[in-house]
Amino acid sequence: MKPRVVLGVGGGIAAYKACELLRLFTESGHDVRVVPTRDALKFVGEATWAALSGKAVSAEVWDAVEEVPHVRIGKSADLVVVAPATADLMARAAHGLANDLLTNTLLTARCPVVFAPAMHTEMWEHPATQANVATLRERGAIVVEPAVGRLTGVDTGKGRLPDPEEIFRICRDVLKGSTADLAGRRVVVSAGGTREAIDPVRFIGNRSSGLQGYALARTAVARGAEVTLVAANVGLPDPAGARVVRVESAIQLREAVLAAAEDADVVVMAAAVADFRPVRQQATKIKKTPGEPEPIYLTKNPDILAELGETRRKQREQGQPYPEVIVGFAAETDDVLANGRAKLARKGCDLLVVNQVGENLAFGTPDNAAIVLAADGDPVEIPRGPKEDLAGIVWDLVAGRLV
Ligand code: CTP
Repeated sequence: MKPRVVLGVGGGIAAYKACELLRLFTESGHDVRVVPTRDALKFVGEATWAALSGKAVSAEVWDAVEEVPHVRIGKSADLVVVAPATADLMARAAHGLANDLLTNTLLTARCPVVFAPAMHTEMWEHPATQANVATLRERGAIVVEPAVGRLTGVDTGKGRLPDPEEIFRICRDVLKGSTADLAGRRVVVSAGGTREAIDPVRFIGNRSSGLQGYALARTAVARGAEVTLVAANVGLPDPAGARVVRVESAIQLREAVLAAAEDADVVVMAAAVADFRPVRQQATKIKKTPGEPEPIYLTKNPDILAELGETRRKQREQGQPYPEVIVGFAAETDDVLANGRAKLARKGCDLLVVNQVGENLAFGTPDNAAIVLAADGDPVEIPRGPKEDLAGIVWDLVAGRLV
């Protein structure tokens, strides 16, 4: 049977983007029932929702009363996703009001509920909204952080509805059965590859695409975590709900990761960090001159993972064991297990996800295979599969270590 999804639509201009979300669901074999609010219908009419979903649409509890829609729709759903979730709608949901079909549905649903908020920054940041979001999260709902960008009118800021494709991915993960076992946890994920400038146009870089780190961030959001994603030169759309900090070099990545790690429960270093950087960055473009080129001298970059491990070791001695779990990644071409074990010990992390590089694995591909080594316990082999699956297993192992 097709998974049954209720798409709740709040009364905000971003309602038009929910049409795209609806298409993503219907085209991938989901049975979708759209439940808009009265105000949502002012932005996008009933006919659009009915045509796209192939089902009758109403905002009221008074239509088709004999089918008891105010109870039946919520009870039979496998997932309720509300996009856009307005400040008013989340306030009503948080307080248990039941003054339209959607809020009735939210009260009767016993399946996972995802809210994708969209509103002006001031409304999002208002203590009333923040308190309502906290209440909804406490009750197990996943409230995705809004994106930052252009809002209605001339304003820009936090409050934009995340990309429908990204909301869809979260919902798909939630439907796959991921639980909210990271709810209330703060996690930091680094992704991509650093670039070390030689001059204003050239750099030393690496092949990391950021796909694995983004999959980790997305999966953590779907499991309820508050995610900071430190992205080094990644050309992928922001995962819905993650706070994205963009960096270029290893030095910038270190600063961003250490700042976010201060109050984090988990840090996952999936980024490929350059071990060296040019001693000198030329202020102007290096010109081709006659004769031999000037050599480029390199200096060592700080080892961020090792620093995190060492800081935690010291904090533990003082009774402040943060972050609770530190995960490293390692790409190895040979002697994978022996090199991995030595690296795990050297870096002081709890888990090390070791990839074998080569044979079309790891860089830029949607698939990955790995062995996860633990500071204590047996290695876990992850067979070749989508990076999202690997991310799920890593979070399972992390969740098992959180007290
Ligand atoms: N890492 C880091 N800071 C660095 C280099 C690496 O935090 N300057 C992190 C990476 O994000 C990854 C882990 O360390 O999680 C292992 O990276 P890798 O490049 O395999 O390790 P290296 O210490 O550079 O070892 P190698 O000599 O094999 O390159």
